[in-house]
Amino acid sequence: MNTLLINNIEKIKQNVKSWKEEKCKIGLVPTMGALHNGHASLIEKAKQTCDKVVVSIFVNPIQFGPNEDFDKYPRTIENDLELCKKYGVDIVFSPTPKEMYGENKILSNTELTYVCPPYKFVDCLCGKSRPGHFDGVATVVMKLFNIVNPDYAFFGQKDAQQLFILKKMVKDLNLDIEIIPCPIVREPDGLALSSRNTYLSTKEREFALSISKALREIERQYNTGITDANILFDVGFSVLNQNINLEYLEFRDFETFDKIQNVKKNTLIAIAAKVGKTRLIDNIIIG
Ligand code: PAF
Repeated sequence: MNTLLINNIEKIKQNVKSWKEEKCKIGLVPTMGALHNGHASLIEKAKQTCDKVVVSIFVNPIQFGPNEDFDKYPRTIENDLELCKKYGVDIVFSPTPKEMYGENKILSNTELTYVCPPYKFVDCLCGKSRPGHFDGVATVVMKLFNIVNPDYAFFGQKDAQQLFILKKMVKDLNLDIEIIPCPIVREPDGLALSSRNTYLSTKEREFALSISKALREIERQYNTGITDANILFDVGFSVLNQNINLEYLEFRDFETFDKIQNVKKNTLIAIAAKVGKTRLIDNIIIG
């Protein structure tokens, strides 16, 4: 089948309009490209759920801080297109920053209308070290929703805080879109797939592996009956390789996002750590 590559907002809106006239259910998989099997699993889920699937590929400048990896973020559009073709994606939407924001410079919220998720959910976990990040994410996702007008949108659970915030946005702003969370995809040895894994040296990859090991060990101990978050923190911390820099290891209720003292069903256990210069995140949700 043919996968159309579209860079232009008006053009994609025309396609969507004719799909809507045919009463097609539309699925959107928002990505920043450098697609891997984690993205492929989102696309597969979208293909199962929807008549038409759009994958957006856009390295969104307004969600990166000034000292973050916007410039070096991997851009692999040829490979991405191949993957999208293989999985039967109908449209790849890959706009330029100018197409999305009307300007070639990064616009702040003094010049651009932003969607700002509640402070309570933004000023914690990843938001603490990445001020403005979730405003940038919510803004671009809202724009993508308005451009593609999907019935369903697919997001990975690896970015658990992002998933939580976007679900909240959909609810609070009465969007007629269902967010479908998709499980984390891992390498056979447990490392969570991430476009940023390509930054890791062989040694760093070994260190990084201790992140998923720590989460597994916490879950194992929880399953033996230990529920105290302080004890489980120590369990996880002791597994983490000493060469990595822990940013947070936190236990939160995935319904309310409140911190949890006694771990129970639906507790999000989330880690962010720096391995060399690479910032990685991973989590589990207690089932
Ligand atoms: O998760 C990502 O890749 C990005 O944050 C998203 C949702 C595509 C918005 O730019």
